[in-house]
Amino acid sequence: MSIRIIGTGSALPEKSVTNQELTKLVDTSDEWIRERTGIGSRHVSTGETLVSLTARACEKALENAGRQADEVELLLVATCSPERNIPCAACQVQSAIGAKQAAAFDLNAACAGFLFALHSAFAYVEAGIYSNALIAGGEVLSKIVDWTDRGTCILFGDGAGAVYVEKCDRGGVLGFVQHSDGTRGEVLKCDSRALKNPYIDLPMETEYVRMDGREVFAFAVRKVPESIREALEKTDIPVEEVDLFVLHQANVRIIEGIAKRLSVGLERFPVNLDRVGNMSSAAIPVLLDELNRQGRLKRGMKLVLSGFGAGLTYGACVLEW
Ligand code: COA
Repeated sequence: MSIRIIGTGSALPEKSVTNQELTKLVDTSDEWIRERTGIGSRHVSTGETLVSLTARACEKALENAGRQADEVELLLVATCSPERNIPCAACQVQSAIGAKQAAAFDLNAACAGFLFALHSAFAYVEAGIYSNALIAGGEVLSKIVDWTDRGTCILFGDGAGAVYVEKCDRGGVLGFVQHSDGTRGEVLKCDSRALKNPYIDLPMETEYVRMDGREVFAFAVRKVPESIREALEKTDIPVEEVDLFVLHQANVRIIEGIAKRLSVGLERFPVNLDRVGNMSSAAIPVLLDELNRQGRLKRGMKLVLSGFGAGLTYGACVLEW
């Protein structure tokens, strides 16, 4: 038994911010950003919330699948930028879309969050607990990014994507791997609240996202191809038979490095980061939705999804569309 993606949806904030506009905020240039990252613009919230974007993406995924919200049994929201600690974003999305009978909770594995949520849904279905799930990745990273730090503010964008999955007997998710290396968590971090109560008052250590870009870059280029090969080995599908590699959209040079290590042509690595930047857990489902709506995903195609990011977390999923 497995799960198959039946519908996809996505939602982006209305405002798109170009590299040129960022030169008014920090000492940078369009050339530098394009050359080092491949990013040309990103969407930034001017009022849209994580919940409003994610709810919209979920509604579109259900519409695309031809299913109703009250049929959903499990609702997972992967995010590292929720509006609230409690209630979780998934419960707020559940209320917004009317997924009355769903068990709803959040999952944070940063940029691998959507992938880990997809794998969790697989496990629930495989165990016979649920027969369908709505899985979203959403971020409003603009509120945790330091807009005076040119090393990070140029990279990130806001948005949400979602997929609706149902149990299936053939095809769907064929195999996956997921890994975490908490010993390397310091290279990409952002605190939540500092410890403050009547007995102690500690300052916040890392109020905004702080990152060692070179370390993250080297980690991704080394570990992602390894995990893709590991996932493919579980399915006996050779790398040559994979139609598309839908990777986390962090940096086009990272994608080029991964393609090179896998000896696969770049034409099999769709990219949208030039228009949306790095949207962390939203990146993979938004790209999937774009490909789906462009008619580029045909039933029977072999796809590899791969996410990587803070934690450090990374993994890969092989599926038949
Ligand atoms: N504009 C202009 N110059 C910039 C800049 C910007 N936006 N950001 C950094 N620089 C400068 C640095 O200050 C440094 O200057 P110096 O040599 O005078 O000190 C120089 O450019 C080189 O910096 P470096 O950090 O070595 O650049 P890089 O080639 O590693 O590129 C990243 C930086 C962030 C683009 C790159 O490391 C990267 O993409 N890493 C992965 C990050 C990522 O994807 N994170 C999320 C993972 S989920």
